[in-house]
Amino acid sequence: ASLAALDGTVPAPHRVQDRNLPEPPAPREGFSSTPDTDPAVAANRAWGRAVLEQVPASRAGVETVAAAAVRTEEQLDRVIDAALEQGRGWAALSGAQRAEVLHRAGDALAARRAELLEVAAAEAGKTLDQADPEISEAVDFAHYYAERARELDDVDGAVFVPSRLTVVTPPWNFPVAIPAGSALAALAAGSPVVFKPAGPTRRCGAVVAEALWEALDASGISRDVLALVDLEERALGRQLISHPAVDRLILTGAYETAELFRSFRPDLPLLAETSGKNALIVTPSADFDLAAKDVAYSAFGHAGQKCSAASLVILVGSVAESRRFRNQLVDAVTSLTVDYPTNPAAQMGPLTEPAEGKLLKALTTLDDGESWLVEPEQLDGSGRLWSPGVRTGVKRGSEFHHVEYFGPVLGVMTAETIEEAVAIQNEVEYGLTAGLHSLDPQEIGYWLDTVQAGNLYVNRHITGAIVQRQPFGGWKKSAVGPGTKAGGPNYLMGLGEWEPAALRG
Ligand code: ALA
Repeated sequence: ASLAALDGTVPAPHRVQDRNLPEPPAPREGFSSTPDTDPAVAANRAWGRAVLEQVPASRAGVETVAAAAVRTEEQLDRVIDAALEQGRGWAALSGAQRAEVLHRAGDALAARRAELLEVAAAEAGKTLDQADPEISEAVDFAHYYAERARELDDVDGAVFVPSRLTVVTPPWNFPVAIPAGSALAALAAGSPVVFKPAGPTRRCGAVVAEALWEALDASGISRDVLALVDLEERALGRQLISHPAVDRLILTGAYETAELFRSFRPDLPLLAETSGKNALIVTPSADFDLAAKDVAYSAFGHAGQKCSAASLVILVGSVAESRRFRNQLVDAVTSLTVDYPTNPAAQMGPLTEPAEGKLLKALTTLDDGESWLVEPEQLDGSGRLWSPGVRTGVKRGSEFHHVEYFGPVLGVMTAETIEEAVAIQNEVEYGLTAGLHSLDPQEIGYWLDTVQAGNLYVNRHITGAIVQRQPFGGWKKSAVGPGTKAGGPNYLMGLGEWEPAALRG
């Protein structure tokens, strides 16, 4: 996103009932992405510091969930009935009418930038440089899907029939953009939504829901079309997913979670964005300065807790022996500022939960033939704050080649040729993001034709897809469902059915 200045004032904590509802949004032409907060502007830095100073108190209150959330199974029945009841009216609106509400939701999310930054830092440990673009992305989803909703009105001879009810279960690592994007897509398509935030990031979910409710209120639409629920997954599965009116589930999470939900109801259509084991290839023709920086950013942003993160870098031919590249990579990694998000300069924050299991092993134990290029260290007693780790000598077919760790550890592999590098990249069972650093057009062409992943990035870091510019979604075991990409032109089409207009009269 391009950069813009915010004014330097810190907004007061937001209270829906104190606020004058906004004027209807002005008509918008086209779509352009929302600017992030430009840290080069001194007033913005002061704003960021002031927001982050509130995080410790906010973290202490993390267990407080919005009173509006549904917490019992009896309440859930009532909420489903209300959503279905109000959902009929919502579905009957034109796409253009729903677009108005979506644009208002985008404005309401944008107005909560400070509050969202604070809760994302408090609950998910997101540093300012990671949380701020995520909020821009949430706003982008609203305005982008608004315009796609209008297009649903325009198909000759066919009528779009939305799901009767869509369940949205987002992850904790993008606790603002993914729930906002998933819920807004379903609403844009004309479906009421039952939204269950991830356990560790419930307050983020509540603030997102508040923004969407504000937009519904301002438009005279019942809040019942968006229900916020706070049930554990098995209760949710048993009662909610089994409900016959639930036509679709939008899930972002581990592949195993998609399988769990499928086991609850095998016939339920899923739009799931799941795990990744993503690699970035660096060839001898690459711009090493840029490659080292992009590898470090892709691997260690949000401490590697992204399905899109780089977990492997594959060095081709002479790059494997290049002292220059190795030194640049070590410099790029070791110069990252690792700290809690209360430090506005932090570039790598804590893990959301203390490292354990396979991640703890990956941070502490090497396999045969591997060595630490940069050894990770636990920086305090919390188990959450680690410095970044880079292991070299990762062998083809080894555990590190194949397993997703979701943390701050990068493996270095080598290949004789780009063909071998692509084979290494394609051997994993996932196919979410992939990167190539090369200035050779033939290599770039070959790679684009052969690599098996949903989002391909040439000479760019491999995380942080921008709505419309880089629609986001995976291939192989990184996706379950129709294969439509979030933030892309077809996503809403996967959230309903087309019927011949004649059938509907
Ligand atoms: N959409 C997120 C990214 O691109 C996951 O990093």
